[in-house]
Amino acid sequence: MRKEKAYFITTAIDYTNAAPHIGHAYEKVLADTLARYHRLNGQPVFFLTGVDQHGQKVKQSAEREGMTPAEFAATVTAKFRALWDALDVQPDGWAETSDPRHAHAVQAILQKLCDEGELYKATHTGFYSIRQEQFLTDKERGPDGEFGAEWGEVVELAEENWYFKLSQHRDWLLAFLQKTPGFVTPAFRQAELINAVEKLSGDLCISRPKSRLDWGIELPFDRDYVTYVWFDALLNYATFIGYGKAAGDSSLPEFDDWWPCDAQVIGKDILVPAHGVYWPIMLHAMGLPDEKMPRLLVHGWWNVAGAKMSKSLGNIVDPAALVAKFGSSALRYYLMRDIATGQDADFSLERLVERYNSDLANDLGNLLNRSLSMARRYREGIVRRGGSNDSRITSLLAKTGEAACAYVGHMEAAMPQAALEAVFGLVSDLNGFIEASAPWKLAKESSSEALLDDVLYTLAECLRRIALLLEPVIPIASREMLHQLGWQPSPQSTLSDRLSNMLADGHPLGSPTPLFPRIEISPNMAA
Ligand code: MSP
Repeated sequence: MRKEKAYFITTAIDYTNAAPHIGHAYEKVLADTLARYHRLNGQPVFFLTGVDQHGQKVKQSAEREGMTPAEFAATVTAKFRALWDALDVQPDGWAETSDPRHAHAVQAILQKLCDEGELYKATHTGFYSIRQEQFLTDKERGPDGEFGAEWGEVVELAEENWYFKLSQHRDWLLAFLQKTPGFVTPAFRQAELINAVEKLSGDLCISRPKSRLDWGIELPFDRDYVTYVWFDALLNYATFIGYGKAAGDSSLPEFDDWWPCDAQVIGKDILVPAHGVYWPIMLHAMGLPDEKMPRLLVHGWWNVAGAKMSKSLGNIVDPAALVAKFGSSALRYYLMRDIATGQDADFSLERLVERYNSDLANDLGNLLNRSLSMARRYREGIVRRGGSNDSRITSLLAKTGEAACAYVGHMEAAMPQAALEAVFGLVSDLNGFIEASAPWKLAKESSSEALLDDVLYTLAECLRRIALLLEPVIPIASREMLHQLGWQPSPQSTLSDRLSNMLADGHPLGSPTPLFPRIEISPNMAA
């Protein structure tokens, strides 16, 4: 039985034919942020991610490097894992498609689909690129009607393969999409998908002859073939949450505890046809009912100066180098702050540094430092409630409540950017409050003792709430903020318990230490 309120989130699994880039990092940080938010909300959470290790491209890259595909995939996989560690991305499950547990479940699924008449063998005759080792379609023809030089020698070839009866389920998918708004977020992507399904024709080739590709999962009913990489990779979302696991295997979760997925986080490029067409039809053919279809959360792309990142343009942004230079809080904050979920954005190093220096170092870091230092200077680091009944204080506490509510609404809608805007609106209110209440003046007037107590207490209490709200996005910095504020949450408490559990009267604060040292950008940093 699915656990009450359980939240299951996955991301696209990353290809191991290349190094991780900033788009991969964005997707994982987004999913990790949402997972952390829901965990903080008191929900049982399972966050699954991993790597897509099979296919022609991995085989080709391995050959270029003089390695076996398995060795090559393991080397690239290690880079992804190291990056997720450095970025504080902490999945609960890790999917590697060369894992024998995955192969076992995929083969059982294929066998069942074959037994139920969902698969058939047929001969396809078409144009085949020897260099790229793939069949080409008319989409690959240039304006002159010819296949471009990038395809090398192109020959006409007849090949026998296995096909999945995709088109047989087209009407089901259309009806399902029409009756299920919210299957894809944002809604405009669902409309785009419906359009594509209306035009759908033909079945899906799900095999590759071993004579040209042997790096994949063998078809259990025809040992001369391996499974097409997308068919194998899509199934990771189910197999690594326990679908079709071997009896007695406790290394994987129980499928029914978690399924269906609340958010499959994918980029806009892999909605049609992979996740929006093949995947729901595969699940439907496997016998899953409509209410067990996973929801898709489709994000946009990070570009560079309006252009797509690509090897040929040489503009690929390496997230590992950025974390090494600026740390995980700087990169996580930027990736969550400068893009609205569903839209595209431009990556810029200058923006990253500007955001960090202005929001984290200046507005938040200085606020924390000043508040703690003033409490030390005027009250030996102990904050007390003064009972001044000052209206500015009541109104600031009310604003904190409103910002927390707005934050929750935005996080529930998977919009960390808007949630952060709400939090930083509060940071700016607090900075204004310091200037307006001028604690340094109050400290000189004996008649303002109670007000000074209230000002210092309110600053510490609001900063505590800000640190709590920032936890999903910048977990390490949030922990450090709470440490400096001398406050630890009790492990079982939820966000709402933590927010309402205010600092005690007479609470001792910790010592101030600069949390976000400014980044001074030099020309070689931009390189
Ligand atoms: N291996 C397939 C997914 C299989 S899922 C069963 C794949 N891999 S990928 O490495 O090319 O992309 C992984 C994810 O990164 C995808 O969701 C993709 O959209 C995302 N991104 C790739 N480039 C991106 C940007 N420039 N910006 C944001 N995300 C991008 O597709």
